[in-house]
Amino acid sequence: MKQLKITKEDYDLFRTFLEGVSGIVLGDNKHYLVSSRLNRLMNDNNIESYSDLIDILRENRIRGFTDQVVDAMTTNETMWFRDTYPYEALKNTVFPQLDNIDHKLRIWSSACSSGQEPYSISMIVDEYIKSSLGAFKHGVEVVATDISLSVLEQAKKGIYDESAMNRGITEERKRQYFNRIGDLWEIKPEINSRITFKTANLQESYAHLGKFDIIFCRNVLIYFSSEMKTEILNKMAACLNDNGFLLLGSSEAPNRYTDAFEMVRVPQGVIYRVL
Ligand SMILES: C[S@@+](CC[C@H](N)C(=O)[O-])C[C@H]1O[C@@H](n2cnc3c(N)ncnc32)[C@H](O)[C@@H]1O
Repeated sequence: MKQLKITKEDYDLFRTFLEGVSGIVLGDNKHYLVSSRLNRLMNDNNIESYSDLIDILRENRIRGFTDQVVDAMTTNETMWFRDTYPYEALKNTVFPQLDNIDHKLRIWSSACSSGQEPYSISMIVDEYIKSSLGAFKHGVEVVATDISLSVLEQAKKGIYDESAMNRGITEERKRQYFNRIGDLWEIKPEINSRITFKTANLQESYAHLGKFDIIFCRNVLIYFSSEMKTEILNKMAACLNDNGFLLLGSSEAPNRYTDAFEMVRVPQGVIYRVL
C-alpha cells in the first residue's frame, strides 16, 4: 500500500474539517495518527494526496465518504463494566432513587462504541429487577448512540470474540447473558431487547431522542474543545428529567464547563445530578 505524506498546511485544513463535522479536536502533532488511520481509505478510493482528500470532503464528492473518514478518526476503545464504579453506582445509588418512577425509565448511552457500555447497563438493569421485585413498573429502555457507523453495526450485532470477552466480564455474567456460537459469544435477547441503537452526533440536536433519566457520556468529552464540552453538557442537562443523573468518564468533570449539575459522591468515584 502506498504511504501518503501529509504537509502541515493540509494537516491544519484536515483538522479544521474534522472538528467542524465531529467536534473531535486533533492536537498540533497528530500527523501520524491521521496518516495511519486514513491511508487505507485513501488508497481504496484512489486518492493520491491529502489536498485531494480535503477537496473531496469539502465538495462532498464521494457519497458517504465524510462518514467513513469520521469513522476512521474515532477512537473506539471500550470494555465491559468499564471502571466498575459507574455500574455499582447505578445499582446502589441511582436505581434505588428512580425505581418507583411513574414512567418508563430511559437511559442514554451517548457514545456507545461497540456496545459493551449499553449491554453492561442492561445487565445491571436485569440484575436489579430480579433483586428488587416491583422495580420499574413501566419498564426500562436503553438508547445507545454513536457517530461511528462501523462500531454501531458491531454493537447492534452483539457478537463478541474471546479477546473482547476477556475485558471486564465475569464468568458468571458470561454464562448468564451470552450464548456461545463456536468461538464467539452472542448477547441474549433478554438483554438486547431493551436497547435501541441509533447514529447520533453529539454536536447536533438531541431533541429527536426524547427525555432521559440517566445519561452515560463516558470517555468522549476528552476529544472535544471546551466550548463543545459546555454545549454538550448543557444540551444533556436540558434533556434530563428532574432528578436525572449524568455519568461521565473517570477523568471528566462538568464543573469547569457548566453549573447545570451537582456532584454526588459514590464509592470509588463521582456521578452528577441535574439541578
Ligand atoms: C473511547 S470510546 C468510549 C466508549 C464508551 N463510552 C466507554 O466509555 O467505554 C469514544 C466513542 O465516542 C464516539 N464519538 C466520537 N465523537 C463523537 C460525536 N461527535 N458524537 C457521538 N459519538 C462520538 C466514538 O465513535 C467512540 O465510539
